[in-house]
Amino acid sequence: MNPAMAEEAAALSAQLERWSAAYFRDDEPLVPDADYDAAMRRLQEIEAECPELQSPESPTQRVGSAPLSAFASVAHRRPMLSLDNAFSADDLIDFDRRVLDKLRVPEVEYCCEPKLDGVAVSIVYEGGKLSLAATRGDGTTGENITANVRTIRNVPLQLSGSGIPGYLEVRGEVVIPRDAFDTMNARAENLGEKTFVNPRNAAAGSLRQLDSRITARRPLAFTAYSVGVVEGELPDSHAAILQRLSDWGIPISPYMATVSGVQACESYYEQLASQRADLPFDIDGIVFKVNNITQQDLLGFVSRAPRWAIARKFPAEEVSTRLLGVDFQVGRTGAITPVARLEPVFVAGVTVSNATLHNPDEIERLGVRIGDRVVVRRAGDVIPQIVSVIQDEGQGSAPEKTRIVFPETCPDCGSDVVRQEGEAVVRCVGGMVCKAQLKAVIRHFASRKAMDIEGLGDKLVEQLVDEGLVTSVADIFHLTTTQLASLERMGSKSSENLMAAIADSRETTLPRFIYSLGIREVGEATARALAQHFLTLDELMAAPADILEGVDDVGPIVAQHIRAFASDDRNRGVLSALQEAGVMWPALTAQDGDGPLSGESWVVTGKLDSMSRDEVEQRLRALGAKTASSVSAKTSTVLAGPGAGSKRKKAESLGVPIIDEAQWLRMMEELE
Ligand code: IVH
Repeated sequence: MNPAMAEEAAALSAQLERWSAAYFRDDEPLVPDADYDAAMRRLQEIEAECPELQSPESPTQRVGSAPLSAFASVAHRRPMLSLDNAFSADDLIDFDRRVLDKLRVPEVEYCCEPKLDGVAVSIVYEGGKLSLAATRGDGTTGENITANVRTIRNVPLQLSGSGIPGYLEVRGEVVIPRDAFDTMNARAENLGEKTFVNPRNAAAGSLRQLDSRITARRPLAFTAYSVGVVEGELPDSHAAILQRLSDWGIPISPYMATVSGVQACESYYEQLASQRADLPFDIDGIVFKVNNITQQDLLGFVSRAPRWAIARKFPAEEVSTRLLGVDFQVGRTGAITPVARLEPVFVAGVTVSNATLHNPDEIERLGVRIGDRVVVRRAGDVIPQIVSVIQDEGQGSAPEKTRIVFPETCPDCGSDVVRQEGEAVVRCVGGMVCKAQLKAVIRHFASRKAMDIEGLGDKLVEQLVDEGLVTSVADIFHLTTTQLASLERMGSKSSENLMAAIADSRETTLPRFIYSLGIREVGEATARALAQHFLTLDELMAAPADILEGVDDVGPIVAQHIRAFASDDRNRGVLSALQEAGVMWPALTAQDGDGPLSGESWVVTGKLDSMSRDEVEQRLRALGAKTASSVSAKTSTVLAGPGAGSKRKKAESLGVPIIDEAQWLRMMEELE
């Protein structure tokens, strides 16, 4: 063996492990990807030349190995338990009462952690080296998934630091972060491969691969939540044990906290529940554990769960219900969306009776028929989705099933429908002849972030279009109080109010106006970029595609949509009619976008008292700053109100300055 090569291999291994822990565990890359890849290639070269230098802990071994024919069984030396559930604040209080009674103390300290919605895994380190990993299985016997767990980038193959027990069994959850899941599914869809229903299924499927080279390509991440068998010394509290694991390089939850008493547990629960949709991964509740290990031992176990821990569950995000029928809705751009009518169910805290079915392909993919029992998911604040059909309904009578037939003409205006090459959606070609499209166009035009016509709600838009009082957005500005007062549920007072709101809305800004036109794919941010670039509406309407593509955010497809809008005579007619009706905006100059904060990128998060996040962002932009929704190394400042969670943490870890609302208000006074 060549000693120089051995030395180089050892140095490269250590460096790659450090870089990958920084990247995958701490979310703080130390070097560009290319440097990482180059070091990895060099190590692979050395190991190919001198195979005796390749240890099982080598970073090159994270790419997986030859497929197994089956997983071997692993008997857990200590059973992997489950948790009792609490479904309400009262359940939690009852749990705390049992703990206090048994311990004969007035209050105990709890360690609070998110309950990650993934797959439970046990990982054994012997002499600091990863020697075995297993699934939970039935709690007594699991499957040996060592080869797969070795590919998980944030799992250390070798622990570092001092006082590492000779035998250390770490237990935790393997998940796929939501954004990585979305990317992974989008890629699968592009390649025509099967997509996954949710991150938990994807994590489970990835760990169940007999071919660990496939697992290696999945964005799995591990978080430790406890220890199993340990031969060696550990601290005497749960939180301190987890901290020790973290010191040795094992990832733990950054959201972990210790609190005293059950009231504080409930506050922690409320706080995390409010951040649930913003967390980087799915959680299904909060786990509370008696922190002191001596107290844990006194409390002991009942059957399969400890008496010293409980999971306070969030309302389920997935439930099953029946598909009663399908309506077809026509949107602003003529897109016809199938909307599922469901037997109402309570999911993630609200009653849901509709869900989107997206397009004909989705209906086919799900193989769903009217009458089917379906699984409905509502994660965060997204529109409820149907994730799958329950094929086996078990005993009892299932209703007749009927096929979903996509309409061949527009359900609103009877015009033809087309599906363009490469498009998933079916569209009505009726344009403004189609009342459904016209209504959607007007709703968008009047909406808060567009022309902001207060009081022009959905019901009123319905009536205005159905009565023929409005045939284009420009007609809104020619409505009379008498016309409005003639409508159902419109008194003279509300007519006058609406007239005033319409009049007020005439004075707008160019970005708002562009956004309000409802050009396909032109959202608020694009509208702003277009306004800043072209400064006048005429310049924008005259711009050829290649110039449009020079604007931030605008690619060939958006450019094409803008061109299509601008070259349509009817649209041009509406634009002049709007301007004739007095719609106007202050002229922009090339300096706009400059300001005391120009060049800065801000993120606003958490709850604010003095104004809404929207307003804060508008004011920041007026001062020249850009506003973004996620924190990165490029972020200049984060304005964080109470309840700010992962974004604040990310900013802290990146060293991005964080200010609170009071500081922001002082800053505004100085700047504006
Ligand atoms: S502690 C003896 N902590 O939830 C205590 N479990 O419903 C055992 N889980 O099988 C578990 N996050 O897979 C614990 N922070 C957390 C957890 C957690 C997720 C899972 C775990 C367990 C299941 C029990």
